Amino acid sequence: MKVLGISGSMRKDGNTADLVNVILERCHVDGIKTEFISLSGKKIHPCLGCEKCKEKKWCVIENDDWSDVIQKVLDCDVLIIGSPTYYYDVCGHVKNFIDRTYSLYHDRKLAGRKGIAVAVHAQKGASRTIQTLEGFLSSHEFSSLGSVTGKGYQKGDVLSDKVAVERAQKIGDKIVRLVKRNRD
Ligand SMILES: Cc1cc2nc3c(=O)[nH]c(=O)nc-3n(C[C@H](O)[C@H](O)[C@H](O)COP(=O)(O)O)c2cc1C
Repeated sequence: MKVLGISGSMRKDGNTADLVNVILERCHVDGIKTEFISLSGKKIHPCLGCEKCKEKKWCVIENDDWSDVIQKVLDCDVLIIGSPTYYYDVCGHVKNFIDRTYSLYHDRKLAGRKGIAVAVHAQKGASRTIQTLEGFLSSHEFSSLGSVTGKGYQKGDVLSDKVAVERAQKIGDKIVRLVKRNRD
């Protein structure tokens, strides 16, 4: 089983990346395969709403990085998707990424995977960020392994949010149990 963590923050090593990595690090046992991807520096254009993907079964936009990232999602069994909270919701880059997965929705190509939503905010708004991420996961028929909300403003702050770090570690442990069960 492969565990993929995505941080949608433009801060490559910001709080969202930190919290996603707390989960991934917990999975670094027994040869579990993990990978971390930051969407920072990746070009992800918005969905055109052209509906051509209904026939093509893939997004028609070809001149950006979305295909490479989504291929990694298709290759994973467990997806951890994290976003910073921007105006009480996911940041624009994450929304672009999610909207483009409409192309895989028609045939539910992502169905059957496990998903975890991660959100970071400075003060408030992360509950809607989680709602948006979980809406994405459930629309694609992922089953949820839970969610984590962390608090932080400057880079690295979230690692001082003990409750969030512990919750992230517990979710990591849950993934490890799941992987072990699947091996037995
Ligand atoms: C454009 C923008 C909008 C933001 N909106 C919110 C918000 O609505 N609520 C909040 O608590 N923090 C807000 N923040 C703060 C970020 O959520 C916070 O700094 C977070 O730790 C960033 O995560 P990152 O380090 O992974 O980028 C905002 C920050 C930016 C840059």
